[in-house]
Amino acid sequence: MVQPLVLDDWPLAPIRTERLLLRPPEARDREVFLDMGSDPTVNHHLGGGRDRATLEAELPEVPADRPAQFVLEHDGRFVGWMGLGRRDPSRPGGAALEGPFLELSYVMPVAAWGHGYAAEAGAAILVWSDERLGEPVVVCTQAANDRSLALAARLGFTELARFEEFDAEQWFGVRMPG
Ligand SMILES: CC(C)(COP(=O)(O)OP(=O)(O)OC[C@H]1O[C@@H](n2cnc3c(N)ncnc32)[C@H](O)[C@@H]1OP(=O)(O)O)[C@@H](O)C(=O)NCCC(=O)NCCS
Repeated sequence: MVQPLVLDDWPLAPIRTERLLLRPPEARDREVFLDMGSDPTVNHHLGGGRDRATLEAELPEVPADRPAQFVLEHDGRFVGWMGLGRRDPSRPGGAALEGPFLELSYVMPVAAWGHGYAAEAGAAILVWSDERLGEPVVVCTQAANDRSLALAARLGFTELARFEEFDAEQWFGVRMPG
């Protein structure tokens, strides 16, 4: 479980990249979060698509309503979510790093894959994280998740460890600030 960050200056003004607007989640994003959470393809390496009715009952009115969570918008359309949180250092991989670190997570609807949106948003979020938080950032993803591994490499993450968790081999990578 990734724990929320505490930031006294959240929400911040949206961040603009070449093609995207990165903004805090809002209630109008809920339907897309439900679609993403129940989609078997999106969740192939995340434990499988969740039952939509269960998700509907569990998801708060504003999904991912906590600091350092970003909705990725392209031309006013939702193309993904990316967020930073605190990974429990006692979980596998944590012992390989000294001091505090952040974990980057990301999910996009299938229609938004293959356009470089995650790479563009991730680069901007990491610049913001370097300036605001200045801590190492880790990514933990199934070793079989080729797209996620390619994205992590594009964003400058390098392998720190591999381990077994959730009945699958996990790739654990780190990117130092700056
Ligand atoms: C992981 C995930 C976000 C990656 O999405 P993605 O679109 O492949 O990632 P990128 O933003 O790096 O895009 C790279 C692709 O866009 C293409 N692309 C097109 N225009 C581009 C541009 N202007 N700049 C960069 N890449 C561009 C690249 O060629 C590449 O295509 P390819 O994979 O067919 O070679 C997405 O697959 C996903 O949501 N998966 C399900 C959730 C998941 O598993 N999350 C991991 C949890 S840690």
